[in-house]
Amino acid sequence: MQTPTPNPRGAEFWNSTMGHSWVSQQAVISEVFTSVTNVSLGAAAAKPGERVIDIGCGTGDTVLAFAKAVGPSGAVLGVDISVPMLDLAKHRVAEAGFGNVTCALADATIYGFEPRWADLVYSRFGLMFFDDPVRAFTNIRSGMKAGGRLVFVCFRTMPESPWFRVPIEAARPHVPPQPPLDPLAPGMFSFAREDRVRGILTEAGFHEIALKATDVPIHGGDITQSMAFITQAGPLPALLENATDDQRHRAMEAVRNALAASLGADGRDLHVGLWLVSARA
Ligand SMILES: C[S@@+](CC[C@H](N)C(=O)[O-])C[C@H]1O[C@@H](n2cnc3c(N)ncnc32)[C@H](O)[C@@H]1O
Repeated sequence: MQTPTPNPRGAEFWNSTMGHSWVSQQAVISEVFTSVTNVSLGAAAAKPGERVIDIGCGTGDTVLAFAKAVGPSGAVLGVDISVPMLDLAKHRVAEAGFGNVTCALADATIYGFEPRWADLVYSRFGLMFFDDPVRAFTNIRSGMKAGGRLVFVCFRTMPESPWFRVPIEAARPHVPPQPPLDPLAPGMFSFAREDRVRGILTEAGFHEIALKATDVPIHGGDITQSMAFITQAGPLPALLENATDDQRHRAMEAVRNALAASLGADGRDLHVGLWLVSARA
């Protein structure tokens, strides 16, 4: 483990296979999330000169967008617990020649944010993995100016996201049954319940909390691109974890067929169900 963390399981997860998959599939993931990015960056509305923190910034897609939006008079801090993902973010920032970005390898729960520094804290799917979310959001708020904006996207329940539901339902009959998941455990659907998100943000000291249910098309492209994403990110890899080679082969065939039938002519017929969350520090 490279950095102190109160979330050892999450840190291990994002520094092992899943982190490396996000690195190898960076271009596919960026493309697949095009509409998610547009919708959430539109809500964040970063302005020239602003200071932005991107929590769980991963391989840097949105850090790059903020670096451009805030310009040389502004600044961006990307924070992430994953060594391979943050290394790629740093590489992309250097390649783009942005001098207004810092990438910090850290757990956002305990990172020493400069007090009252940020005008805006943003995250694309990077805030659902804390063991103690109230502690994490309280720490994050310490780095925000009074009245600063918090804007992030997270997933509503899995059935509300056909992009995940269709492949999971196709694979499930072919693999060993999965034990029921704890809906509150850290993970991609842990912020699915509106009352839970409101409670965490309220306890962490945020106000003007708003959650807007937003369905956003996924840019699945062709079946090859969709399979590249769905077999390496999202909930499918965990479902396939304990399958034999034969079970996995049959599951993948079923997923491929189901996706091919559902993607639509432009590859954008499947959507994800998001919460677009905003609040003030
Ligand atoms: C689903 S990925 C999203 C990555 C990026 N925001 C994107 O949309 O491409 C979740 C990210 O959160 C990061 N993460 C998870 N737990 C974290 C923590 N406690 N502190 C900082 N980053 C964390 C992971 O390493 C990963 O990069």
